[in-house]
Amino acid sequence: MTATVIDGKAFAAKVRGKVGEHVARLKADHGITPGLAVVLVGEDPASQVYVRSKGKMTVEVGMNSYEHKLDVNTSEATLLKVIEELNADPDVHGILVQLPLPDHLDSDLVINAIDPAKDVDGFHVSNVGLLGTGQKSMVPCTPLGCLMMLREHHGSISGMNAVVIGRSNIVGKPMAQLLLNDSCTVTIAHSRTKDLQETVKRADIVVAAVGRPEMVTGDWIKEGATVIDVGINRIDAGLKDDGSPKTRLVGDVDYASCAAVAGAITPVPGGVGPMTIACLLANTVTACSRANG
Ligand code: GUN
Repeated sequence: MTATVIDGKAFAAKVRGKVGEHVARLKADHGITPGLAVVLVGEDPASQVYVRSKGKMTVEVGMNSYEHKLDVNTSEATLLKVIEELNADPDVHGILVQLPLPDHLDSDLVINAIDPAKDVDGFHVSNVGLLGTGQKSMVPCTPLGCLMMLREHHGSISGMNAVVIGRSNIVGKPMAQLLLNDSCTVTIAHSRTKDLQETVKRADIVVAAVGRPEMVTGDWIKEGATVIDVGINRIDAGLKDDGSPKTRLVGDVDYASCAAVAGAITPVPGGVGPMTIACLLANTVTACSRANG
């Protein structure tokens, strides 16, 4: 079998188009422009790339983008003050604090200081609890993007066996919760899972979110399964013509061997990544609509 490629880039462009229409209606009917504030502490190069990309897309759909770049040595008190001001600012409807934070800052404390109604990442304990009990909440962007692609490809995923590899608060746990809420039978696998390969082999849906380049290979995959690759890993790829080092972006899934067995698969790049940002924009416009009745 050669897998259908799930084109996250094209789907994300469609989602952003719908967000743009919603933004235009909010402006025309209510005179409101949704605003997203992104807080970046320090100068981690990957985080800087993500933040720049989020800012650009925010403006492209017609929303206001506010960037707060803070020094790597920023104190917890200063960061909490910034969040308090953003919570109180009526022009800011969504707040995202880029993770990971420098080690001296307590991420849980910082995230839980965000007004849950503006928590477009869905990481605040209130939103985690609402999602866990199937109530209306802000849903974390990466798992939401994965779910949207699964629903788009399958229609219903009810009753399917899903294995999520990875148990992070950002992806693994909320992904499992969303799949359960959609009536999948869900297994969360992780680095201590015994017989990981056999566990994955039983899955109709595999979501790989472990941060280990090309770990999942074709012999792990059941014929016809759907494979969602959340990984974004930069690996060495030899040297350029001028002798400087070359790198390549790969997922947690070995694409070639898995695509030969799977029924459908997301590529890296162009799969989950663009959907994450599209869902962030969608969450921001949702937060703005809820704030304005
Ligand atoms: N770092 C990596 N992924 C994310 C995300 O989805 N949200 C935030 N805030 N930081 C991240």
